[in-house]
Amino acid sequence: MHQIATVPDFNQIIERRNSGSGKWDDADALFGAEGVLPMWVADMDFLSPKPVLEALRQRVDHGVFGYPGSQRGPVLEAVTSWLQRRHGWAVEPQWLATTSGVVSGIHLAVRTFTDPGDEVIIQPPVYHPFFDCVRNHNRKLVENPLIVEHGRYRFDLEDLEKKARTARLLILCSPHNPVGRVWTREELESVAAIAQRHGVLVISDEIHGDLIFNPHRLVPFGTLANIRPENVITFLAPSKTFNLAGLAASIAVIPDPDLRQRFVDNQRILGVGKSNLLGLVALEAAYRHGEPWLEGLLDYLDGNARHLVEFARQEWPGISVDLPEGTYLAWLDCRQLGLTEEELHSLFFQQARVALNRGAQFGDGGRGHMRLNFGTPRQILDQGLERIARALKERPAEGRG
Ligand SMILES: Cc1ncc(COP(=O)(O)O)c(C=O)c1O
Repeated sequence: MHQIATVPDFNQIIERRNSGSGKWDDADALFGAEGVLPMWVADMDFLSPKPVLEALRQRVDHGVFGYPGSQRGPVLEAVTSWLQRRHGWAVEPQWLATTSGVVSGIHLAVRTFTDPGDEVIIQPPVYHPFFDCVRNHNRKLVENPLIVEHGRYRFDLEDLEKKARTARLLILCSPHNPVGRVWTREELESVAAIAQRHGVLVISDEIHGDLIFNPHRLVPFGTLANIRPENVITFLAPSKTFNLAGLAASIAVIPDPDLRQRFVDNQRILGVGKSNLLGLVALEAAYRHGEPWLEGLLDYLDGNARHLVEFARQEWPGISVDLPEGTYLAWLDCRQLGLTEEELHSLFFQQARVALNRGAQFGDGGRGHMRLNFGTPRQILDQGLERIARALKERPAEGRG
């Protein structure tokens, strides 16, 4: 299929209210205020790439939506050529399994590769469902908190080395949600060395791996020279990259044949191996034809991130934000405001009327922080930024510290 390149307009405002969107339609109820501007859950307010919409339309026009078959050649080929082209990662199609979401894939991996009571390490502040991926299965959650220095987060390798001695598994977030770090090769190699030394299996969640700003680069954990194939499983998806989260299609990359067999067997045993037909259509079209759109998106998001950081510097006394290296999520350090968690949430939700994720959701290190989703047209972003600025100005003088 030959696609005509068209320039996407990321300034276009799409009305998402009453479209079945969790981000927009659930916000008032969840944040306890009327007319809150949703800047929370990680999906964007942009149209998906035209070739994806066209592929979906064609498939919908076919009109029959029975179970998808097991012949996934073209889908898997689209994934492997994407990984080669974008990330220099040579992946064999037989290493891939489809999953209906990265979170459900991680749940299954935890169940498949650990036993109840086993220790699983996560690195908070981190994407909050990781906590459930461990606790819901009666595994022991072990925290290896990130260290923050002058606003920049890094791994605590000394602590990781200690905890890896008894742990079975590490769930890595790369790039890291919510702190926006794109881990360097050196940082990842240090983690890999520890994992290898102690035989810890690394589950690398690379769902944000395509959303990276220059000059940073994704180093897929599976490409590291110092990790053995039996020590790594990677999850990725087009859902963040191309704004397709609602279509629930994602990929597990499992180079080791034994691990792969156990994972796929468990999908069958638990009855969770089904794929979403339209999700696979969208996934294939996105990876095949979505690259020019993604380049435009990255420019736009980079502009939004810089604008936000500059605006915060000038208009948000008491809140500091650093430029994220990847993702469309900004991590707001609000500790200088000197507010309790409750006061902080009331400032954002009731006074500013913006819906942001509470930092504490991501673990203890998230207290005093908020996470803002800037994957939205500039005009909407500006509304949110200004609402926050106004709420800060309207605070009683004695509260402004
Ligand atoms: C790190 C990370 N993993 C997984 C997900 C969700 O993946 P899925 O919707 O495929 O379960 C998100 C969504 O925000 C995320 O940030």
